[in-house]
Amino acid sequence: MSAAALILAAGQGTRMRSATPKVLHELCGRPLVLWPVCAAQEAGADRVVVVDAPARALAGVLPEGVELAVQELADGTGGATAAGMAALGDRLDGPVLVIAGDVPLLSARTLAELLDAHARSGAAATMATTVLEDPGGYGRVVRDASGRVLKVVETKSDGDATPAEREIKEVNTGIFAFDAAALRDALPRLRTDNAQGERYLPQVLDLLLADGLTVAAQAIDDHSQVLGVNDRVDLARVRALAQAAIHERHMLAGVTIVDPAATVIDVHVQIGQDTVIEPFTSIRGRTRIGRECAVRCSYLLDCTLEDGVSVGPFAYLRPGTVLRSGAKVGTFVEVKNSDIGARAKVPHLSYIGDADVGEGSNLGAATITANYDGRAKHRTRVGSGAFTGVDTTLVAPVSVGDGAYTGAGSVITEDVPAGALGIARERQRNVEGYAERAREAQHAGEPARAPDARPERQG
Ligand code: UD1
Ligand code: MG
Repeated sequence: MSAAALILAAGQGTRMRSATPKVLHELCGRPLVLWPVCAAQEAGADRVVVVDAPARALAGVLPEGVELAVQELADGTGGATAAGMAALGDRLDGPVLVIAGDVPLLSARTLAELLDAHARSGAAATMATTVLEDPGGYGRVVRDASGRVLKVVETKSDGDATPAEREIKEVNTGIFAFDAAALRDALPRLRTDNAQGERYLPQVLDLLLADGLTVAAQAIDDHSQVLGVNDRVDLARVRALAQAAIHERHMLAGVTIVDPAATVIDVHVQIGQDTVIEPFTSIRGRTRIGRECAVRCSYLLDCTLEDGVSVGPFAYLRPGTVLRSGAKVGTFVEVKNSDIGARAKVPHLSYIGDADVGEGSNLGAATITANYDGRAKHRTRVGSGAFTGVDTTLVAPVSVGDGAYTGAGSVITEDVPAGALGIARERQRNVEGYAERAREAQHAGEPARAPDARPERQG
């Protein structure tokens, strides 16, 4: 069904105790505010307006096509709705969804059902409500003897609700469907003579009833969907639920998550069938993982793993990392902005940054790209079928050709041609009889020294 949606997202959210506006706090890799935005879009809202504070902190995160309105004064949810309605314009009629920006678990289906119920009842406003065992600081829904909604009373500060009203367990979820014209007409009449001195959006309900219009309530049984985030305790509670849903989606699609409680997976992550994720792994951002991969105790951010890739234990894959089919990145390996070819291996103790590694190459333990000279980053190119010896430092920009080798302990500063062996280390020299002389010196009470360490030989 076609409808407009307003997401109320202005204000710092003081109980977060944060320099970051509340709705910009992250939930499973997506800012809080984008959760209801996506739900509204998915429910078919043809216009989505997000109400922001004058600093327009949300401008940078809103997807294309989502409009931003500014609430000049932080004067409450009613003021925020008025700012959003002004952006939607006078001519808009039909239903408007108003959604609190701090209710992230709301599903598109719940919104669609709310719109449906609203259309069927013909009410001027339909409020989504739910029953909470511990209703805390939510607004309580007051009904008359016959069960009709009368009003919402706020409980965040003392003075709005009576003790009896505080006992009510049915709460306003902060999600409404309104008839646009009725809402527009009521908003300028909101008062601020309440405990918080704000324009409360739910007071619109009283005004509509006084105008002789109908107000309906739609019960939401799954109250986890309408949990609001007002502080970081709420955020953690909501995160656990969001994370469980993400895990479930992957597991039902054929991904093994050995211990979900010890695995972090962001909302945009994609994982192919028969991939196994072992505990103490975080898969963040827009990471894409193919089929039949194994990821063990590792941290992955914005990287791509093709099929059959093996990662970890204890790898750190940073943005721009691409591991081609069958590649392996092993223990204590960090990779950044690099393309590791099919079946190539970086098995142990390496840092690979800004590099292109060809198919089937093997980077020996402790191969390090020296990619940064203090001013700029430079690329390293390793061909296919190449083999770097243990403890090779590749000083970029530099290349190692197809099938080439580097000697263990080399600091490679010049290109190694295809098929060649690059060695860049001092040649070994053995000091014959050293141990014997050292013993004699110890008897004579002198310190033992290698011949080239004698003071007279130092230049
Ligand atoms: C609000 C409701 C309460 C309901 C609860 C559900 C009011 C007065 N109270 O309380 O009945 O049970 O949500 O979660 O509506 N906002 C603005 N501008 C403002 C103030 C708030 O845009 O001036 C935005 C906030 O960013 C937030 C949303 O509106 O995303 C709700 O505001 P919040 O302060 O969290 O209201 P609650 O106390 O949770
Ligand atoms: Mg809230």
